[in-house]
Amino acid sequence: MARILITSALPYINDIKHLGTLVGSMLPSDVYARFERSRGNEVLLICATDEHGTPAELAAAAAGKDVATFCDDMYDIQSDLGQRFQLSWDFFGRTSRAPTHELTQHLADRLSENELIDERTISQVFSIDDDRYLPDRYIVGTCPHCGYENARGDQCENCTRVLDPTDLVDPRSAVSGSTNLEVRETKHLYLRQSKMVPELKKWIASKEDVWPHLVTSIANKWLNEGLHDRGITRDLSWGVPVKHGDKWPDYDGKVFYVWFDAPIGYIGATREWGEATGNDWERWWRLSKGADDVKYFQFMGKDNVPFHTVGFPVTQMGSGEDWKLVDYIKGFNWLTYYGGKFSTSQKRGVFMNHALELLPSDYWRYYLMANAPEGSDATFTWEHFAATVNKDLADVLGNFVNRIMKFTASKFGNEVPEGGEWGPEEDQLVADLERAIKVYETEMTALEFRKALAALRSIWVAGNEYLTRAAPWAAFKSDPAQAALGCRVGLNLVHLFAHLSEPVIPTTARIMHESLLPAPELLPWPDGNLKDTLERVPAGQPFTIPDVLFQKITDDQIDEWRARFGAEE
Ligand code: MF3
Ligand code: ZN
Repeated sequence: MARILITSALPYINDIKHLGTLVGSMLPSDVYARFERSRGNEVLLICATDEHGTPAELAAAAAGKDVATFCDDMYDIQSDLGQRFQLSWDFFGRTSRAPTHELTQHLADRLSENELIDERTISQVFSIDDDRYLPDRYIVGTCPHCGYENARGDQCENCTRVLDPTDLVDPRSAVSGSTNLEVRETKHLYLRQSKMVPELKKWIASKEDVWPHLVTSIANKWLNEGLHDRGITRDLSWGVPVKHGDKWPDYDGKVFYVWFDAPIGYIGATREWGEATGNDWERWWRLSKGADDVKYFQFMGKDNVPFHTVGFPVTQMGSGEDWKLVDYIKGFNWLTYYGGKFSTSQKRGVFMNHALELLPSDYWRYYLMANAPEGSDATFTWEHFAATVNKDLADVLGNFVNRIMKFTASKFGNEVPEGGEWGPEEDQLVADLERAIKVYETEMTALEFRKALAALRSIWVAGNEYLTRAAPWAAFKSDPAQAALGCRVGLNLVHLFAHLSEPVIPTTARIMHESLLPAPELLPWPDGNLKDTLERVPAGQPFTIPDVLFQKITDDQIDEWRARFGAEE
């Protein structure tokens, strides 16, 4: 049994997430966690809200709330939405809680002892009209690298390059739009990541053929373009306070930069979990306390990759302590909405709360994972969504379940029928399934979700093909025993599909399972002899027919949703 730590990039607290964020971190981490749990591994899936920094402050101001209250409210909303999407977090924490604060201060101390933090007097943009400094997202302007006009002071969303507010061309305040800005001198702490370049290069080189190309190429771009030291404090009041004392005596009104404390939130949230459940969190994070045999996976969108291949590892390695480093980074491209950006600020696209107003979570989970933006960006359209749901979920899976259960009930009653002899059709089925399950397993293990979902679909297809060949409806008159076998195998396929589909469509999987057999809390991965697995639901077992599993999406619904959410092509 392996021990697997999984973290999903921590969603900013500022707003309800759209489907792009869901598919780029939270959802795949859950699918993978469910897959590994079903195979009997010990899994810890950790997520949390990323609550500091300018996004939180700006959103709270826009909502007319003080930032702490805003974060409390938004945490509840995001936690509820995660649960309704069936995200099986072992813990959903908050970076604003004590464990992340303490760990951030502790790690900063360690880095400073190791001469990886120094103090510099730097130029900061000050807004005269707003009477405040404008760090990071408080300032917007044109990206000096790609010309994107709405680049933020900390990073260009368009080309993913990390920026300094003073880099922006034509800068303006994000609070007031004012361009009445001046540059002032102020003291800040800097993380001397440049000192760690040799170590980082060695580490990334060792992942070259292991991690997705997307991830290593972003990391290399950073390392090769020359890694600048990063300011890790800001003139803000909301965040992890820079600890006072002998070392940094005049840091009133300064906090750590959100990108310094956010990844530390992975550890902090694990510690919250430990404290809440009486478990030993260090067993997952400290090599000397058992984490040396943990395999650690991180999931994130491509804009997050620099902070996980460079920023966080510098913090961990530079501390000189025995922190567990990530073993595998799964990075995603963007999901676009009709080829354009999903945008939180412009409310463009589909958000988690709205999605669930339209359809249950499994529809979204399946569609998003089947079209995960892995090799390149992927586009969401209502037409494509409807076509996928109607074909794969309604026709291939839903119809299979409905057809075999209804037919069996009508001919044999609501008990699994007895009789018939296993023959070439069944052997063929087993061979088809074995092949497809192997691909599914391999691609899931490789975290190639599109390919894994294509394999899952091919498993459902193999079931349909079997039913077509065995045709119990045709056999029933001439050879009822043979028809009984076809039905019994068909019902066992429903059971098998429940187990195999659970990581992707957990709600439907349980419905399928419970229509035949009581479902254990965890549906284990079917291993061993497939023929035996196809006899798991025995003759004589009573069953119930579930309601239609997946409703088809109609053209009227597509029109309605296009109108509601906007869909310019
Ligand atoms: N909040 C960031 C985002 O949504 C992700 C933070 S990931 C973490 O892009 F590791 F820093 F937590
Ligand atoms: Zn740019």
